[in-house]
Amino acid sequence: MLPVTGMTSAPETGDAAESPNLDLAELGRAALDTSYVSLGSRRTASVHEFYRYPARFSPTLARAVIEAFSQPGDLVLDPFVGGGTTLVEAQLAGRRAVGADISSLAVFVSQTKTHLYSSGACSLVRAWARDVLGLRLDASPAAAPSLGSTEARGLATPSAWRLRRFIGLCLDSIRRLPDPSASLLARAALLRASQWALDMREQVPSVSGLRETLAATASAMADAAESHRQAVRAVAVGGGYRPKVLCRDATALAPEDVVVGATTPALILTSPPYPGVYVNYHRWKIMGRKETGAPFWIADCPDGHGLAHYTMGARADHSGDRYFRTVLEAWSSIAGLVQSGAVVVQVIGFANPGEQLSRYLATMDAAGFTEERLPQLSNAPDGRLWRGIPGRRWWVVSDGRAQSASSTGREAVLVHRKR
Ligand SMILES: C[S@@+](CC[C@H](N)C(=O)[O-])C[C@H]1O[C@@H](n2cnc3c(N)ncnc32)[C@H](O)[C@@H]1O
Repeated sequence: MLPVTGMTSAPETGDAAESPNLDLAELGRAALDTSYVSLGSRRTASVHEFYRYPARFSPTLARAVIEAFSQPGDLVLDPFVGGGTTLVEAQLAGRRAVGADISSLAVFVSQTKTHLYSSGACSLVRAWARDVLGLRLDASPAAAPSLGSTEARGLATPSAWRLRRFIGLCLDSIRRLPDPSASLLARAALLRASQWALDMREQVPSVSGLRETLAATASAMADAAESHRQAVRAVAVGGGYRPKVLCRDATALAPEDVVVGATTPALILTSPPYPGVYVNYHRWKIMGRKETGAPFWIADCPDGHGLAHYTMGARADHSGDRYFRTVLEAWSSIAGLVQSGAVVVQVIGFANPGEQLSRYLATMDAAGFTEERLPQLSNAPDGRLWRGIPGRRWWVVSDGRAQSASSTGREAVLVHRKR
């Protein structure tokens, strides 16, 4: 691992001052990159676009952090892996990687992005995409697929119900594919196209709109999967790694989860849930307000938890006590799994940065991590790197009321080191 260069830290960490070569300018530029977060396309040219995971961070930033703070062959851990951005960039940079998340949907999405699909599997998915164009609701039994209550919620209007039947037909055809890797990629394409059709839209498209989008998306995703496999295999040192992805609560990660061979993580790159901010990681929002668990149905993942499970707190947690208790437990558990000197880089937003940033930093300190401050940023208002996300407003509870807040359009990039 590269020494963490040009940083100041509490005196007991000692070794930071020796290090001369961290390219902070590059890191700063990367922190400001929002191109991926604001991406609007429904097609896909890179595996990063296989799913629009809420609050995903920028691949450019992930790559700059990985290159600055680790070496090829090192192990990178993301204990709140979400849509798998860290894992994809670690894989492309020749680093071994482990990702974990409490959400089975996040695990599915991260697996679909980092799997190395064979040419045969990609060809099968292209052929399946052509077959999809021939799938007709009127030629199929009228019965809708049976769904659990959370999946079905929000899909009861006539237009959404027709899409639900079409998605059910596609799932049947995916189950008949002869290669498990092809099934994984086809299911990922159905998830992506269904997200386009259902999530955050006032009006849902027609069945033929979804059918055409699915066929184009699946074929583009097969191309992206082939390019990704070739790029990963071509990496000179550490080429061909396949990250490990686990469904785990970060408060209870075990050594056997994160240690690969005899190697412990040199770098933790992550983005935990944000204090006081309510992001619907686990639901799609249909026609303005109705929520559906359809992504779990399509991905064939266990569902059944509420918002509080994925955000370390409920809307009722006004004091933030539950959030800070859980995040302390998580970071203490992670601290027990890494060596002294391991670096943590995290991207995090706050409902109320004035109060919550200092509480968060105290939590990291209590868990055994010392903040590293960058002298190059001494002119910045608080000496830290902040990034703005244009147009982002998450829900927060303020004065006892839920409201969308502009404070959530800024995120800090915090750097810590294990004592
Ligand atoms: C901000 S998102 C991560 C986004 C990710 N950096 C990306 O680029 O897609 C935070 C993630 O933390 C997960 N999470 C929440 N509580 C958790 C816990 N106790 N243990 C592990 N993961 C948790 C959520 O399910 C969510 O996927």
